[in-house]
Amino acid sequence: MTDEEYYTFIQPYGDAKEVLLARLHVLKHNLYEGSAGQPIHNIQSRIKKKKSMEEKLRKKDKNPTVMNAKDYLQDIAGVRVICYFVDDIYNLVDALKRQTDLIVVRESDYIRQPKPNGYRSYHVIVGIPVYCLDGMEYFPVEIQFRTMSMDFWASMEHRILYKKGERNGREKLAEELREYADMLVEIESRFELHSEGKQVHEI
Ligand code: GTP
Ligand code: MG
Repeated sequence: MTDEEYYTFIQPYGDAKEVLLARLHVLKHNLYEGSAGQPIHNIQSRIKKKKSMEEKLRKKDKNPTVMNAKDYLQDIAGVRVICYFVDDIYNLVDALKRQTDLIVVRESDYIRQPKPNGYRSYHVIVGIPVYCLDGMEYFPVEIQFRTMSMDFWASMEHRILYKKGERNGREKLAEELREYADMLVEIESRFELHSEGKQVHEI
């Protein structure tokens, strides 16, 4: 795809992302009023770069064209919502799902069922209605909901294992990361108890 094709193609994905961000900000204020504190720590978002779109298509054995990007990539627009507690995540997901003009394209709960490597996060791909002069079309946005500790782990895992490539010692490091993931779950649940005002015993 040419630069020009790319920039024209990603335009409505950027619009869909902005619409979703606006809705998340509204929810953030709404949920805040009823609960003890802010549910969202921070929100990050991005549009997939041309180069990484082409690489991902090649990995899927598809020609790197905008037509194929539309048909085979669902994470062109991506939003990452970093929350304080796991409950905040489920509350936000429920609130989003009640918005009847959105469609849920795919959902993966890697919190109830973490990946074997220890990765935890709640992924949902939503179709956002984008209205233009000649009608409406849904555009997918991939949302990753994480707590701060899930995000800490995922960011470090991505950085460290990715850099390590195929070098030896990878298996040992992977095992170590799985242990850290368990430790973070423990820490997270202790913070939860503290926030509920419960007695927390020393380790
Ligand atoms: P992709 O082809 O990577 O999009 O995988 P998928 O379509 O099967 O979706 P999945 O929900 O498994 O993962 C989508 C995104 O979640 C990835 O692009 C990463 O940003 C993140 N992710 C998934 N698994 C891991 C993991 O093990 N470690 C880290 N650091 N991030 C992950
Ligand atoms: Mg994906």
